[in-house]
Amino acid sequence: MYRGRRLRMNPTIRSLVRETRLCVEDLIYPIFVVEGEGIKEPIDTMPGQYRYSIDRLPALLDEMKRLGVRACLLFGIPARKDACGSEAYAPDGVVQRAIQAIKRWDPTMYVIADVCMCEYTDHGHCGILDACGRVKNDETVRYLEKIALSYAKAGVDMVAPSDMMDGRIGAIRHALDAAGYPYVPIMAYSAKYASSFYGPFREAAHSAPGFGDRKAYQMDPGNAKEAMREMAADIEEGADAIIIKPALPYLDILSAASNRFDVPLCAYNVSGEYAMLMAAIEKGWMKPDVVEESLLCMKRAGADMIITYFALDVAKRLANEK
Ligand code: PBG
Repeated sequence: MYRGRRLRMNPTIRSLVRETRLCVEDLIYPIFVVEGEGIKEPIDTMPGQYRYSIDRLPALLDEMKRLGVRACLLFGIPARKDACGSEAYAPDGVVQRAIQAIKRWDPTMYVIADVCMCEYTDHGHCGILDACGRVKNDETVRYLEKIALSYAKAGVDMVAPSDMMDGRIGAIRHALDAAGYPYVPIMAYSAKYASSFYGPFREAAHSAPGFGDRKAYQMDPGNAKEAMREMAADIEEGADAIIIKPALPYLDILSAASNRFDVPLCAYNVSGEYAMLMAAIEKGWMKPDVVEESLLCMKRAGADMIITYFALDVAKRLANEK
């Protein structure tokens, strides 16, 4: 008789036959940076997460170093917004200054910057609008090039365009190469769905659209083949790695991507997934290890790396296990 339990009898054998592991090296921690000084402001929709002013980052960087979390993803919350999101590409914008400061304090911290306009535009959409309130694709791409380039000039390690405009990966690659940054990789949010799971983030980054929704540029949750087309197009245009977002309800997309493409894959364990598990954990309805289980399942589905607000908590628990 087949007895699957033979290989489950004690922790040693379970560990020997374990196919997938979660480790601290897999994790990328998102950081929200605000203008101002002395700010470490709790985010209501994401218990345990904060908005930091640049001068408050060193303590966070120290903690990340101590825990072995060596990569971060920056989101900026500017003091001033306008129709074309000009703070997003300002040489002294909040993300540009944060990149410089982090690289000065902790040069081996791998700094990734999210390239998008929704935190910077007064209307909250991810690009430039036409008279009817639709996002103009090709004109927006020109701005995305400028934003990515300004991050490269500030010393970013990698850019991650999250806008879902057509043709932006090729355009950004070209702009980076032409300006002398051929070694700054692009991690493309290729399969980014129009998801309610981003709700807590929009509160955190003050980036909810002022009218309408993002369905004219982010993908329909019912579509899987379309995600394959988006990923293939981004790889063709020069994406070095690909993000699938959200993660938990979209593991089929991640798994299909991992069967089909050879580029590194990143799962974005988004704000709504964080808020959902945190709420249940805080109520005592689930134990915190539900987090490790969720992240491990993302790895099993094919993720090489995971962007997660749980990075520091998980790193602490992984360290304690050792
Ligand atoms: C910017 C961006 C968003 C997220 C990452 N980059 C918000 C959005 O598209 O509305 C969401 C991340 C999260 O929910 O954790 N476009």
